[in-house]
Amino acid sequence: MGGMKVYLETLGCQMNKLDSELLAGALRADGHEIIADRTAADAVVYNTCSVRRHAEDKVHSRIGADAKRKRHHRPRLIIAVIGCMAQRLGAALRRRYPEVDVVCGPSRLGELPALLAAAAGGEAAIAVAPERRDAPQPPAEPPDALDLARDPTATPNAAQAYVRVARGCDNFCTYCIVPYVRGPEVSRDPARIAEEVRRLVDAGRSEITLLGQTVNRYRRRADGRLVRFSDLLARLSPIDGLRRLRFVTSHPLEFTDDILEAMRDLPNVCEYVHCPAQSGSDAVLKRMNRRYTRAAYDDLVDRTRAIVPGVVLAGDFIVGFPGETEDDHAASADLIRRSGYKNSFVFKYSPRDGTAAARTLTDDVPEAVKRRRNNELLAVQAETGLAHHEHHVGQTLEVLVEGPSARAARRPDTAPGATQLTGRTRGDHIVVFDADASLAGRYVDVQITGATALTLFGQLRQ
Ligand code: 5AD
Ligand code: SF4
Repeated sequence: MGGMKVYLETLGCQMNKLDSELLAGALRADGHEIIADRTAADAVVYNTCSVRRHAEDKVHSRIGADAKRKRHHRPRLIIAVIGCMAQRLGAALRRRYPEVDVVCGPSRLGELPALLAAAAGGEAAIAVAPERRDAPQPPAEPPDALDLARDPTATPNAAQAYVRVARGCDNFCTYCIVPYVRGPEVSRDPARIAEEVRRLVDAGRSEITLLGQTVNRYRRRADGRLVRFSDLLARLSPIDGLRRLRFVTSHPLEFTDDILEAMRDLPNVCEYVHCPAQSGSDAVLKRMNRRYTRAAYDDLVDRTRAIVPGVVLAGDFIVGFPGETEDDHAASADLIRRSGYKNSFVFKYSPRDGTAAARTLTDDVPEAVKRRRNNELLAVQAETGLAHHEHHVGQTLEVLVEGPSARAARRPDTAPGATQLTGRTRGDHIVVFDADASLAGRYVDVQITGATALTLFGQLRQ
């Protein structure tokens, strides 16, 4: 059954973006059309995120508006809520919005095309995984039918692609909803991953980013032996035409030296580590159940810098976690300075129902204090990021050209025939320079002439 106009909107992380890309491919293969105008759609699909309240609020306002439209003007409009929030709320979503036809959790997305077809016939469905308790459950085979069926020529970017290596999460950091909504952690078969990467590279994708909630804990028995993350990197690295191999997101506890050595020794594995610390204070790390100390994180940074020359680090921090004192906060600022991150993502703590922190700790840091601490960490990161970027001025860096920069259209001072382009270095720096727009998807050398806290500026080397 095809022929529907589908509007598909994605919130949340890279994993969700990949899910949406694969789903869009599956829906197109079924004869549906993916459209950008929500009001012209026969079906609206929201791929949702639960990690912070803000992401969920956005979806509520979208569903509320669509439900109203459905009641008053568009009785046949199909409304589907998929992803993490669908898993978290399940049947409660349909109780709150009876106009919602399909609720589908992240582990069951392969069923979505059939569920939409059923909805067109008037049949509503709730497809979610069984509710998860705090204890890890026995791993199942990860559902990767969508990954295997993907069209390697249909990635949003002609030079880059994302590949899932593991699903789910068993960390149970006390603030985090992910283990509950994404389910137990399961690594995919390395042969299937290698096959998917090879097909993407054959289709011209030369930069592959491996995705996992804790990507560096990848481990899987295959052909009678254990394949660790470093083994997976070694297996993928020789694929002909694979120029850059990246991975996100890492957990500090899992960065064993074999991974760092693989990064050093495998020429196409990029020197970039996004390894969230979340806090610089032992007391807070303990309440977060991060299972490492500040000293262990400092040691990881030192080991990484010692083993991987030129490595670029990025972090995540949560401010205003229950009980966070000014001293704890100062320890996070100090960790940013000490680690010399290229950039950090800073989030205000947002209690998530069902998590251990929401159950057992009081959200006692006032919103105004969270806001101030958020701004303070961003200011420290801006200083640190500026120093990091300025260090590259005068160097020539290899840049994978992405395309015209968002500002390009508004800049009258670009040389004739040139456009302001952006691209990324192996270390994930954003580089802005003027050149011909036809270079998109190519690798060029750029001489760095200037820097801000988040960006390098340069000139194309001929
Ligand atoms: N509140 C605020 N930030 C959170 N994160 C995860 N859960 C929460 C929460 N409840 C942040 C962490 C994580 C990133 C993806 O989102 O920093 O690394
Ligand atoms: Fe959001 Fe986490 Fe789900 Fe990604 S896995 S969409 S960050 S809740």
